[in-house]
Amino acid sequence: MTQAMAYAFDTARETACTLIERARQGHAPRPVVQGFFDEDSCTVSYVVRDPDSDACAVLDSVLGFDQASGKVSAGPARPVIDHVRAEGLGVRWLLETHAHADHLSAGPYLQKQLGGELAIGQGIRAIQRTFGTLFNEDRAFARDGSQFDHLFGDGDRFRIGGLEAVALHVPGHTPACLAYVIGDAVFAGDTLFMPDYGTARCDFPGGDAGQLYRSIRRLLSLPEAARVFVCHDYKAPGRDVYAWETTIGAQRQDNVHVHDGIDEATFTTMRTTRDATLAVPRLMLPSVQVNMRAGHLPPAESNGVSYLKLPLIAGDLLAVSD
Ligand SMILES: [Fe+2]
Repeated sequence: MTQAMAYAFDTARETACTLIERARQGHAPRPVVQGFFDEDSCTVSYVVRDPDSDACAVLDSVLGFDQASGKVSAGPARPVIDHVRAEGLGVRWLLETHAHADHLSAGPYLQKQLGGELAIGQGIRAIQRTFGTLFNEDRAFARDGSQFDHLFGDGDRFRIGGLEAVALHVPGHTPACLAYVIGDAVFAGDTLFMPDYGTARCDFPGGDAGQLYRSIRRLLSLPEAARVFVCHDYKAPGRDVYAWETTIGAQRQDNVHVHDGIDEATFTTMRTTRDATLAVPRLMLPSVQVNMRAGHLPPAESNGVSYLKLPLIAGDLLAVSD
């Protein structure tokens, strides 16, 4: 079966292809994309603007967090705010590609400063159920995604001023992952990294390497000229500068994990073998507790201070002391 036939009935993908082609051919505006790199978490936040109006969206914003002191800071979000204000932009959307495990989202902070609707994929409910259980949250913690203003499903369309956009559900790294196709730009989240670095890990709860492979092949079936913006960069052997923009064509040709010709079994073996060697991300437990709340800190206690939990994995130790 050819790739085109395999995706013949994927209406969300067809929509994405149409939006990309319309923007490439000048029948619809092409977004102006500005990346903001946070070196502490290696995350790229984006301001995506309509060239013909003041409308913009902010993707995957970042708060600073020093775990040793518990200090939360606006640091990484400040350049985004300064840019939006300097350019006189109006934020329509604050988009998350997924519930990140390596940084705290600045979504609610930016919303207070700049406005905009906070949105993520419908799969966030599964994340909330999983981590609500892990952190032993009581019933006050809603598991229905209601902390966000909007939940996107696969194929849902939206606009940023004159820009046309569609959400694609691309699970694998997490069950909630979305890619956003805005004009001719694909915001891939953590499905794809730069071609010389490869792909994201799949060993978080609900992650699945085979599912990630299928999500990636779906993205790689989009027009080759589409611009691709990744959510993280860690440099790569032989590359000394951070990078975050590439194309579908470059990914198909050069992605070290998933270029054309690599099949699902090969990818899955590579991915699961590599994941078994990776440490838990430094800020995973803090990040998830905040990001499952759409970027809000846990409710303040009676002294007005918010606290994070640290589940202790000490089963054998406790058994010995009994
Ligand atoms: Fe991630």
